[in-house]
Amino acid sequence: MAERQKLLEIKNLKQYFNSGKINEVKAVDNVTFDIYKGETLGLVGESGCGKSTTGRTIIRLYNATGGEVLFNGVNVHGKKNHAQLKDFNRKMQMIFQDPYASLNPRLKVADVIAEGIDIHGLAKSKKERMEQVYTLLETVGLNREHANRYPHEFSGGQRQRIGIARALAVQPEFIIADEPISALDVSIQAQVVNLMKKLQKEKELTYLFIAHDLSMVKYISDRIGVMYFGKLVELAPAEELYRNPLHPYTQSLLSAIPLPDPISERTRARKSYNPSVHNYAENEPVEFREVTPGHFVLCSEKEFNQI
Ligand SMILES: Nc1ncnc2c1ncn2[C@@H]1O[C@H](COP(=O)(O)OP(=O)(O)O)[C@@H](O)[C@H]1O
Ligand SMILES: [Mg+2]
Repeated sequence: MAERQKLLEIKNLKQYFNSGKINEVKAVDNVTFDIYKGETLGLVGESGCGKSTTGRTIIRLYNATGGEVLFNGVNVHGKKNHAQLKDFNRKMQMIFQDPYASLNPRLKVADVIAEGIDIHGLAKSKKERMEQVYTLLETVGLNREHANRYPHEFSGGQRQRIGIARALAVQPEFIIADEPISALDVSIQAQVVNLMKKLQKEKELTYLFIAHDLSMVKYISDRIGVMYFGKLVELAPAEELYRNPLHPYTQSLLSAIPLPDPISERTRARKSYNPSVHNYAENEPVEFREVTPGHFVLCSEKEFNQI
């Protein structure tokens, strides 16, 4: 297999809110992982564990408290000129959880989608701008007649398609999808995931796909990272993570996935996670260690030796 190319390298990333104050929150605490070109990295963990903050810090919506983010080898948070900043802003896009809240209700769909085209000067004429909008609408499974309507005229799934078209408009390389399907009906979720998969192939996109549980990420992710209280506790190829979860928190998340069969669902054992199981000695170093190639887990040396 050819050497995989790293699109992003996230190194010891920290995002502390209210740093040094009594209400300090270590939303992202020393998180390290790479994202390879063309892959989907799923990031899961319960609400409040720091997934969105990780995404927002990577994409530079927040300055990092510490650590580094390299995009194609260039430090995202380092000093840059105007052209470099604009380049980052174009190549890294975000799709949000709530398609209702993330689209400006006063703008027609054409103008929602064309916002990035205008900012980055990607169309030479009004006609070319509209042609791009029409193509984008068709790419995401809508049609050109939708261009003149307003966001409130669409269903949740259609609005998420508009959000995807808006992100695609600037020809990005990397898209952070922050719980893009959590607000949608279950019946619509698979359609949006399938659309994202199709677009990934066609346009060689790289995704960071954020979700709060492990049920849907399975279908889209090549690798999955699990976060707990600001820390990345496990990272592995998707199949490996489901087959061989090593961190007790990952095991508890997996046991929370509902089973399709109602009888096994009623009797399935849910495993809860209690951090005190680790029983670390004071100052015992707990590190992100590679257990088998590509399978990392946050553990002490003693735990590592017991795996
Ligand atoms: N702008 C902010 N100011 C202060 N605290 C924040 C801010 N954004 C998020 N947090 C806190 O950081 C932690 C992680 O939040 P978030 O990244 O939104 O988690 P998730 O996306 O996993 O639900 C939470 O405790 C949250 O309350
Ligand atoms: Mg979030």
